[in-house]
This record gives sequence, C-alpha cells and structure tokens, in this order.
Amino acid sequence: MSQGNFYITTPIYYPSAQLHIGHAYCTVATDAYARYKRMQGYNVMFLTGTDEHGQKIEEKAKAAGVTPQQFVDNIVEGKNGILDLWKLMNISNTRFIRTTDDYHVAAIQKIFRKMYEKGDIYKGSYKGMYCTPCESFWTESQLVDGKCPDCGREVQPAEEEAYFFRLSKYADRIRELLTTTDFLEPASRVNEMVRNFIDPGLEDLCVSRTSFTWGVPVDFDPGHVVYVWVDALFNYTTALGFMNEKYDDFDAFWPADLHFVGKEIVRFHSIIWPAMLMSMEMPLPKKVFGHGWLNFNGEKMSKSRGNVVDPYLLASRYGVDALRFFLLRDVAFGSDGNFTNEALFSRINSDLANDLGNLVSRTVAMVQKYFGGTLPTEREAEPIDDELISMAKALRDVYQHNMDHFAPQNAIAEVFRVISRANKYIDETAPWILAKDEAKRVRLATVMYNLLESVRLATTLLQPMIPASCEKIFFQIGANAEMATWEKAVEFGVLPADVTVQKGETLFPRIDIEKELQELDAIAKANAEPAAPAEPEKPAIEHLPDITYDDFMAGELRVCKVLTCERVKKADKLLQFTLFDGERERTILSGIAQWYAPEDLIGKKVIVVCNLAPRKIRGVVSEGMILSADMGDAAKVVFVDDAVPEGSRVR
Ligand code: ME8
Repeated sequence: MSQGNFYITTPIYYPSAQLHIGHAYCTVATDAYARYKRMQGYNVMFLTGTDEHGQKIEEKAKAAGVTPQQFVDNIVEGKNGILDLWKLMNISNTRFIRTTDDYHVAAIQKIFRKMYEKGDIYKGSYKGMYCTPCESFWTESQLVDGKCPDCGREVQPAEEEAYFFRLSKYADRIRELLTTTDFLEPASRVNEMVRNFIDPGLEDLCVSRTSFTWGVPVDFDPGHVVYVWVDALFNYTTALGFMNEKYDDFDAFWPADLHFVGKEIVRFHSIIWPAMLMSMEMPLPKKVFGHGWLNFNGEKMSKSRGNVVDPYLLASRYGVDALRFFLLRDVAFGSDGNFTNEALFSRINSDLANDLGNLVSRTVAMVQKYFGGTLPTEREAEPIDDELISMAKALRDVYQHNMDHFAPQNAIAEVFRVISRANKYIDETAPWILAKDEAKRVRLATVMYNLLESVRLATTLLQPMIPASCEKIFFQIGANAEMATWEKAVEFGVLPADVTVQKGETLFPRIDIEKELQELDAIAKANAEPAAPAEPEKPAIEHLPDITYDDFMAGELRVCKVLTCERVKKADKLLQFTLFDGERERTILSGIAQWYAPEDLIGKKVIVVCNLAPRKIRGVVSEGMILSADMGDAAKVVFVDDAVPEGSRVR
C-alpha cells in the first residue's frame, strides 16, 4: 500500500575531479534513506546529478586542452566516472540531472528572468580588486599581501556590472524559518547559520558573472552568465519538470521531503535556496539535513594532500556492502567522521564477519547438518526463547525511531543487538547437545527456526544499508521477497514451518588486518612515488632496407589532438582515443595502457599516421596509429608542442 510520494535529493557533484570516498558518503546515506522509505511503502523520487558550470570547470578544461563540455562528459560518463561510481556503490537513484542538460539550461533562464521581472534580481555593480593578467575579481579579504592570490601581481580597484538577488529582503523570513521550525537539522547547524550569517545581516547576492562564459547565459543580457549556485540549486525543481517539458513530476513531488547536504553547503541550502523559492513564490522543502565530513586519518580529504581514498580500490578488495556499512555505521550522521583502513577492517571483522556472517553461516550449517536442510514442522517453545523473540519483534520500532531522527548508525546498532542476542542464544541453547538426543529433535527444530526468524527480521531492516548482501542472506535462509517486507518486520513466525535453507558463499570474509594494511601501504606507495626512472637501456638499433623519398612521403603523418581517452574494458593494454585531426574526429586504439593513464593524454598533441588502412580491434575500427618511441619494454608517445595546430603535416 503506497504511503504517498517522497522526494529525496543529494547535492549535485562538481565533475572537477574523480570522486573519493568522502563524496560517496553523502550519496550512500541518501541511498539508504531512499531505500528505507521505499521499504516503508513510499513512492520515492531519488535525485542526484552533476553541477557542471562555472569558472573552475572552465579553467580545468582549458588546462587539459579540451572544451568544458568534453571535460565534464569525461568525468561524468567516462570510465570510473561519476555514473560508474554510483553504479558500483549500488545507488538506486530514480533520476540523474546534469546542469548542462538543455531542458535545465532553458528552465534556469526562465527562472532568472522571472525573479528579474519581479524586481528581486536587479542590475548593479560588483566592486572589487581586479588582476588584469588573470582577469579575476578579488575581494579585499581574498588578497594575499594586497596582491593577487593567484599570480602575486598588483591588483587595481575595479567595478563590474552584475545582477544581484535581493537576499536582504528575505532576511526576516529566513530567520523565522530557521529558528521557529525544524526546516534545518541538526540544531547545531541552525546556530551556526544564525550566528555567522543572519545576525551580521544578509547582503544581496551577486548572481551573474561576466568574467567567464561557461555557464547559463542570461538570455536578456548576453555576456552575463548565471551564478553557478542559482543554476545548481534549482536543479531540484527542474529535474521534476519545473519550467520545462522534459518531466511532469513537479506537482507530485514538490516540495522536496529531504535535501541531504554536506555541512559546508548548508548556507546555500538553508538561506539562499529558501529565499529564492520565496521569491519564486514556491513551497519550501520540508527539510534540509547537513551531515558532517568524512576525514582521513584525522585530516580533511583532499587531492592535494594525497589522502583521498579510492572507492574503486576499497570496493574491489572488500566489497561494496562492507564500504556502505562502514560509512553508515561508523560515522555519527551529522557529525564529522574519520576514515582509517584499520577502522574499516575492524568494523568488517567484528560486525559483518563475526556477528552477522557467523550467525547466518552457523545457523544454515546446523539446519543442514541436523535436518538435511529442511526443518520439521513441530515446535516446542521454552521460556529461554522469549527474550530473543521479543527483542526481535520490538526491533523495527527502535530502528524506525533512529532512522527518523537521522541516526542510521544507531538504527544499525539496534539491529546488531538482536544479532548478538541470537549468537548468544546459540550458546545458551547449545544445539550440538540437543542434537545428540533424539527426544530433543522438536526442541532443536524450534531453536533453529527462532534463529532463522531472527536472521530474517534483522536482515529485512539492513536492506537499505547493504542491499546486495541481504539478498544473499534471504536466499540462504529460504526467505522470499514477501517475507522481507517492512510489514513482516514486526512479526515473528513468517518463514514457513518447513523452511529449507541453502548453503551459500561466505558473506563477509574475515580480513587479515596486518597483511591488508601492508598491501594497501604498498599500493599507496606505488601510486605516490613512481619508481625512479631507470637509466634507459641503449636501444638495439634496427637496420632496415632503404626506402625512397616518395615512399616516405606516402605516409600521411599529421598532428592530432587527443579529445578523449579511456581504457578498453577487458583489454589491459588498450587505450581508446578520439582525436581531432584538423578536419574531423577519428578513433584510434593504441596498446599503451600499461604506460599511460587516460588523463595523462587528454588534451595532448601527438603524431598520427592518418592513412594507415583502418583495422578492426575488439569490434572498434581503429583509424591510424599514434607514434611512440619503442623502448623495448615501454613506449613513450611523441608529443608535439601545443602551438602546432591540428592537421599540420609531419615529414
Ligand atoms: O558542493 N566528507 O559539490 P561537491 C563528506 N556542486 N562529504 C563530502 C566530502 C567528505 N570528505 N567531500 C565532499 C558541491 N563531500 C556543489 C553542490 S547542490 C545544489 C550543489 C560532499 O562535488 C559535500 O559536502 O563539492 C557535498 O555535499 C557533496 O559531497 C558534493 O560536493
């Protein structure tokens, strides 16, 4: 029975670098809540996506020598990109928005115009200090020793035309929203917002830029692009079809029930976002929850510190569910958490391998050993059963209370109390002793049934957190989907009396912590400092027969630019390129994946033999060859100076 609609969102991510485990944190938490609500019978709309405009992206694309669109496409859709990561993490989003999607861009223009026509957006001027060589505006406080923080040169006072949003007009209503309702949680974030932003007074917000072009153009004033946060925040509505024809879900799902956001963007979501919605005369989201940050060994995770943790590496070694479980169980949602490999391993070993994994495998093994896999139907209860049964039946309520109070870590802890109780029940009832006595057979079957039911009930409630593992457990204990529902999570006695179990794979292998730490250390070292290049060996000079001048000139060697580059699935050595050859794009496969990462090559200029007869490799037609120096057991691509235009002939 449907409980109604429920709309939940994550922030949309900047596709400016590969995502790390900290990014996955927010999306995994949102996914757990989306699954929780679905389990309760809600019709859930779960939105995530990417925030693709802005100066930062424009600059990064330029540095990589590609267009901004090519740059973001690669990070969103490319191998090990954002879409791949969400697939890997088993994220069940209903929809994915990219702010470069046409429907979104057109809707943002309409929204901007509407606030302008209403008078809430007005033209003014943005005053600051300008660095001409960098073409950048800085505020006084951003300067370093009075000079440009980027290049260290002198700056001049300057003024730039810009549009402003009347944030000040909504200050009183925002204060009331934050202080008299539970719009923003946890409460500590409310205090932060009021003290740091509302009390000092809200100033109007600059909402357009003219210093770069990678953004949504203001349609009535070309040359201005919409400030990236205005563009980004309205994604939550355009993805439902607000001001566009692409979707038709706005009436059903707006206002959002829940925006999950990281603590550093709470200001945008709890002050600027509701103020713009007030301006648009739209209902406000019901709740914004600001979660904490996941640090690494106590430090902020960042690429420049080299401490970002690769979710692909961790998931491939320890399993996606182990990772999801750690994120949801080890960190108090709303507070900062700390990721360490040791903490991950001990969580896997203690909770997943020892408590849950063991309970399932011992129970299934005993049902097989004592009853050939299928329980007889007679039962014989004893008082010792009562505590386990009543704890299991009461579990859903405490779990729900914790989930609804944004404490998934406590909801999981409650499930594990029941799991521990069940493990203790095995010790108390000592099935191996009952098994020795034929007269105790019915009692033994009762103990087994109680264990299977406890597993079923606990597993039902773990589905939002570790969905794939739960499916495996249900298979092993003989439960089908109808026995794993929210409704059935308060009943004890749902599995059929003559249930049949199946032995399955080990759910959560135990980790040898010392060994794993050493291996991860070795991987980190290998990634951090590439071994000092060995003195290249003197190449063995090959002597080939002479060719004529004309023979050589028959080769059409051209300078081409690498537009995209990605690894070829299931082919360790191959990279697939799209290159621009001065006239058109061409696809080339090259066997240099052992020596180059795709990102090392994107944007580079190389020499291609363009009139080499096309060849099909792994189903892809390769149209030419990229020149490299052959070093025996390595190859070095021959790069061409960036100033040489694509299409230039090499001879
Ligand atoms: O902020 N621990 O995008 P983003 C926990 N585009 N959360 C982390 C984290 C960490 N170490 N690192 C990042 C943006 N996050 C905007 C959002 S919404 C209209 C626009 C979280 O890619 C971060 O807090 O920088 C944020 O919630 C999310 O990842 C996306 O961050």
